[in-house]
Order: sequence, then C-alpha cells, then structure tokens
Amino acid sequence: MNRREIRFGIIGGGMMGREFASASARWCHLLDLEFVPKVVGLCDSNPAIFNWFQLNFPGISVTTSYQDLLERPDIEAIYCAIPHHLHSRVYRAVIEAGKHLLGEKPFGIDSEANQSILESVRAHPGVVVRCSSEFPFFPGAQRIVRLIQDDLFGRIIEVEAGFYHSGDLDPQKRINWKRRIEYNGEYGCMGDLGMHVLHIPLRFGWIPDKVFACLSNIVASRPDENGEETPCRTWDNATLAGEVPMDGYRFPVFLSTKRIAPGEMNTWFIRILGTRFSAEFSTKWPKQLRTLPYTPGQAQTWHVGDVGHESCYPVITGGIFEFGFPDAILQMWAAFCDELVNGRERMKQPFYCVTPAETALSHQLFTSALESHRRGTAIEV
Ligand SMILES: NC(=O)c1ccc[n+]([C@@H]2O[C@H](COP(=O)([O-])OP(=O)(O)OC[C@H]3O[C@@H](n4cnc5c(N)ncnc54)[C@H](O)[C@@H]3O)[C@@H](O)[C@H]2O)c1
Repeated sequence: MNRREIRFGIIGGGMMGREFASASARWCHLLDLEFVPKVVGLCDSNPAIFNWFQLNFPGISVTTSYQDLLERPDIEAIYCAIPHHLHSRVYRAVIEAGKHLLGEKPFGIDSEANQSILESVRAHPGVVVRCSSEFPFFPGAQRIVRLIQDDLFGRIIEVEAGFYHSGDLDPQKRINWKRRIEYNGEYGCMGDLGMHVLHIPLRFGWIPDKVFACLSNIVASRPDENGEETPCRTWDNATLAGEVPMDGYRFPVFLSTKRIAPGEMNTWFIRILGTRFSAEFSTKWPKQLRTLPYTPGQAQTWHVGDVGHESCYPVITGGIFEFGFPDAILQMWAAFCDELVNGRERMKQPFYCVTPAETALSHQLFTSALESHRRGTAIEV
C-alpha cells in the first residue's frame, strides 16, 4: 500500500512535544492506515531540547523561531504544545500560514484568546484545526461513548467526570510556568485539566446552562528555581456543579479538576448514572468497565468486566493486553490524521478530536466558573 505521508512540524518540544514525536516513531503499531505522519521539523525556544530530537529523529531540522517551520512549503501540519499565554499568537500564525493544527488545550489562555483563535479558524475553513484530548480514546471510555450513542441510559440521573493529580501536595515542589498565573492563566487547574474532563460530555451536548464553582488555592507559594518562596496564584482544585437541560428534564453534572487529590496520579474518570443503565470508567483501573443494567423491580448489581486493547484504530497489540497513556496519544493522533486525509464523513471510525467550537464551550464554562467563585453564587453559562 502506498501511504500518504503527512509532514509535521512540532512547536514546543517539552513533555508533550516528545510524547507526540514518540507516537509517530511507533506508527507501525497501527494497522491498515493509508497515511503516515513524519516529524520533519522542531521549534523550541530552548535549544537544550534539540539533542533528544536530533538523536531520535535523524534529519529533523531544529529552530528557535516557529516562523521557520511555517515558511516551509513541505510542512503540512503542526502539533503545538507550548505554555498557554502563547496559544493565541502561535495558533493564529499556524492557521494563517495554511497549516493544519493539532493544538494543546486549553486553546487560549482565556476566553478572549480562544475567541481570537476561533476567528482565524473561521477565516481559514480549509485548515483542519483540532484540540488535543486523548483520554476518551481509552477502550473503556470508548465503550461508554458507544453506550451513550446507543441511548441505553434511560433518563440520566447524573454525570460525574474528573481528572486528578497529587504531585502538588508537596509544598516543596518548585513553581513552574503551569503554576504562574501569567503563563498558565486564571483558570489554573481548569485550563490544565478541564478539556479532558469535558470532551465526552460536550460531544453529546451535555452543556450545563448554569454552574456553581468551588475553587481552592491550597499551596499559595512555592520555591522558585533559586529556592525563594514565590506566590503561586493559580487554582489547585476546582469542583463545578452544573445543570444540563435535556428534553423535558434537567440533570446535575459534577466536573472536577484537581492538582491536589492525595494519592492520585493522572486519574481521569467518567461516571454516568441513568434509570435504565449506569456505567463508569477510570484510568485508575484501565482495563475495567463497570456497568449496571437495570430492569424495574430487578436486582441492582454492578458488573465489572475487562475491556482489553479494543482501540478505535486496530493495532498489532493483542486484544488481551493493557492499554495506556502513550496508546491513547497514538489513537488520538491517528484520528487527527484520519480526519485530515479523509474528512469527517469518511473517517475510518467516528470518534474525532475536540473541535474549536468545543474549546469555545469549555472557555464559556471556565469563565462562568471564575465568576461564580467571585460572586459566591451559581452563574448562567
Ligand atoms: N494532552 C495532555 O495530556 C497534556 C499534558 C500536559 C500538558 N498539556 C498541554 O501541552 C502544552 C505544553 O505543556 P507541556 O507539559 O508539554 O509543557 P513543557 O513546559 O514541558 O513544554 C513546553 C515547551 O514549550 C517551549 N516553549 C516556550 N516558549 C516557546 C516559544 N515561544 N516557541 C517555541 N517553544 C517554546 C518550552 O521551551 C518547552 O520546551 C500546554 O498547553 C499544556 O496544557 C497537555
């Protein structure tokens, strides 16, 4: 099979830039795809990053100026993983250069920055622009997506989704850009973790029309690189309670993003309770799906089953083996390339990456959450 090569540039070669590049290096894991990405250029403002890329991607060009990548006619698409205060400027430049973009969340440091990215998207309809969010590509999460599509839940009782970390419990952990409001943004943990939590609810139109937010800044200062205590003004934890209007009824939705959830390491979960069916998946038990089918008058019993490696895009890995974070990145990237090559209607499977319009909804929600916290009351979204 002659595969179509999609030549990518990466802007921001830090933690996520390397994850993304590494996924391209194991594209051979994926079966039967007629397209293959090739990472041919890297931009990072820190040249210390270059060595890892040059060692592992022979022939890659490196630069400290992203314009160098945007001027190259052979580069068709960009993956961009940089601090939030740069999203608007760089994402706009990428789109205006006519390059397809897979950008990292939150897609703008605030609502104004997000709107300015969306203006560029509207002005360049031929450019495919999507936002990264990989956890819904876990097989257990995909089973939940299909259960929602099959309308099995009956009347929805409530939905809870969250994303938890715990590293910030350590007050000695040094401050970095993600804990500084000027680089990470006023959203704090919501900007960092919120898009992941919202991806599935937003995809099914479960958008709260009002929200009450509890935001906490638990560790208010941290040592900087010189050991000096520095104010840490970003929100550590956020719990949002909202109400979603459905046909003829409303249901509560609880969305939580926490950097300080003791003991948790990258725990992403979704739990949907309904009158006919309930289901729950968490990356804490990455193989397991919990379900509870209910017939009136019958027993209410949670069933726990292993889902194995049942991915959106078939892979060489046997179906009994475990799925993990790098697998989710690979599947997400396959979905982005599939949409780029085949268009939404002809994708090989139906689950597509987060759209710019979905990022705009997330910004509306986070902005309302900040307002709710300031006023101490529920706010219309
Ligand atoms: N999808 C996920 O699971 C996930 C996880 C973590 C972070 N993220 C997102 O990815 C993005 C980056 O986060 P990260 O954890 O990779 O951060 P990071 O700090 O590890 O990497 C950011 C990189 O950007 C570079 N950079 C800074 N300014 C630049 C500029 N002007 N031009 C070029 N490069 C520049 C830095 O030198 C650094 O190497 C953020 O938007 C973050 O929210 C996503």
